[in-house]
Formats: sequence, C-alpha cells, structure tokens
Amino acid sequence: MSFDSELKQKTSDVEKLIISYLPKEQGWAKTVMSAMNYSVCAGGKRLRPILMSETYKMFGGSGSQIEPFMAAIEMIHTYSLVHDDLPAMDNDEYRRGRKTTHIVYGEAMAILAGDGLLNYAFETALKAFEADGADLKRCSRALSILAQKAGIYGMIGGQTADIEAEDLGSNVTEEHLLFIHEHKTAALIQAAMMIGAVLGKADEDRISVIERAAYEIGIAFQIQDDILDVTGTLETLGKPVGSDEKNNKTTYVTLKGIEAAGAQQKEMSSNAIALLEGLDAQGIRNDFLMELIQSLITRIK
Ligand code: IPE
Ligand code: IPE
Ligand code: MG
Ligand code: MG
Ligand code: MG
Repeated sequence: MSFDSELKQKTSDVEKLIISYLPKEQGWAKTVMSAMNYSVCAGGKRLRPILMSETYKMFGGSGSQIEPFMAAIEMIHTYSLVHDDLPAMDNDEYRRGRKTTHIVYGEAMAILAGDGLLNYAFETALKAFEADGADLKRCSRALSILAQKAGIYGMIGGQTADIEAEDLGSNVTEEHLLFIHEHKTAALIQAAMMIGAVLGKADEDRISVIERAAYEIGIAFQIQDDILDVTGTLETLGKPVGSDEKNNKTTYVTLKGIEAAGAQQKEMSSNAIALLEGLDAQGIRNDFLMELIQSLITRIK
C-alpha cells in the first residue's frame, strides 16, 4: 500500500475510534454536547492520535489501552482550537472547513464546549485503566504526561505567551518565539508520542529520545503552520489565512522570512528523523512513522 493510502486508512480508523468515545447529545445540557461533537467531527488531520499509536507500535505496543488516550488527546487538541478561535483570542471564523464553534453555537457555548472537551478528555483517558491487560502504572504515567503537557507548563502556557506577545511586535526575540512554539504546539505532540512510548513499555532513555524528537517535530509543525498562514488558501487549509498578520503575531515568517523559516522547518524535521534513526539502530523502527514525519515537511494543510 502507498503511504498516502495507508495514511488515509489510518486517519479514517482513528476518526471512527474518536467518534466512538464522543458523548450522546441528550438531556438539558444537550447543546454543549452538540457543540463538542460539532468541533471534533469537523475533521482535521488527526495527527496527534496517529503519532501516538504509531509510536506505541514502534515500541511493540499492542492492545487497547492506547485507544482512550488517542481519543483524549484529540479532544484536548480540538478544545484548544475552539478556544484559540474565540473573538478574545485569534478571532477566526473558519476551522476544519466549517464555521467555527462560536459562530455556530455562540461564544458562551464555545467556551463551555472547550471546557467540556477538556474535562471529557480526562474522563475518556481514565477508561484506559479498565482496558484488558492495562498496565496501571504506565497508564498513570501517561495520564500525568497528558495533564502536564496540556496545562500551564505546556499548551496553555504557550497560548498565554502567544497572546501576550501580540503587543510586543519586534521585541519578540527568537528565544521568546521558541518558548511559544514549544509550549503551544510541541507540547501536545510530545504528549502524543511520549504516551505511545510509555504505554509501549519504552525505557526512560528511549522516552526521552521520543520527547526530544517530538520537540523538533512540534516546532517544525508550527513553523510550517506560520508559513501556510501566509502562503496557503482557506479552501486547502480549512481555516483563514492572514490570521497571524491580523493579530500582530510575531511568527517565524515575520522574524526570519519565508525562506529561512522553511529551511529551519526542514532542519528540525531532519533532527527528529536522525533521533528516530538512532532508535532504529537499536532495532526499534516504524517505517510509516518515518514517512509521516517526512511528509509533514512539505504539507500544504
Ligand atoms: C492546528 O493544528 C493548530 C496548531 C497547533 C498549528 P493542526 O494543523 O493539527 O489542526 P487539525 O487538527 O488538522 O485541524
Ligand atoms: C495555535 O496556534 C496553537 C494552539 C494551541 C491552538 P495558531 O493560532 O497558529 O493555530 P491556528 O493557525 O489557528 O490553527
Ligand atoms: Mg493562536
Ligand atoms: Mg489561531
Ligand atoms: Mg496558525
């Protein structure tokens, strides 16, 4: 099977898995459940759960304890997008090819749907502890990685610095921008891959190789996102272009120019591949995962 058709197949499998964990839309709080499901079901690349399951497989992981974590990380990622699009944040009207959650359901309901997804992610992840053959110690480590990388020392911290940097213009240094990109974006990619490694029974040294590789992948991913915000189209991206300029964001593109940003993106992706090749030399490999990381370098959405 070609890489493209394999990716398509895996994306659709992950999609079904995520949907199977979504709440039923019922009762007096039905609206928040509908808004949650609207945002999750809009599509998206499902990159984080795929990275998680591929890292799990790379370490020889099998069994269903990974599945609740795959759904949970996509719920957290989706909530971060719902809140990121709010008028008080990036104020965007399209996401994943649809009107954003606050446009369809109103701001109050979008805030609650984000809160709902965050909490429901943990309700979901906890189901891993009940899976057949679950390793409870490793599940608890995985849960703690998820909580930390999504929180104030991870994604929320990065979003905080991102918003505050809007008023700083050219005072934003590369170091500052790296903090933002590491936390708002790389942290969840690290969580995805580290949870795969932890549940796949990787040892500590290898978990930290995965953490470093995912750092490189995550920053590269956000640099490409910054580039596509300038060079992409609404039709392909499913979200508006020019959002960063509108919000006075400093990005890799404003800091270094498109070409240098592209070069740095490629370099960081190669660093990640080199780290994974180091594991390959120890007999730990996943060709699909390598191709996936490679494919992110030239992604157009
Ligand atoms: C968008 O993430 C936000 C960033 C961290 C750049 P994705 O590009 O993974 O968005 P979806 O999930 O495919 O919609
Ligand atoms: C957001 O970065 C990262 C998140 C944690 C949501 P962006 O604001 O650049 O993401 P997009 O471009 O709106 O997807
Ligand atoms: Mg943002
Ligand atoms: Mg945004
Ligand atoms: Mg962006």
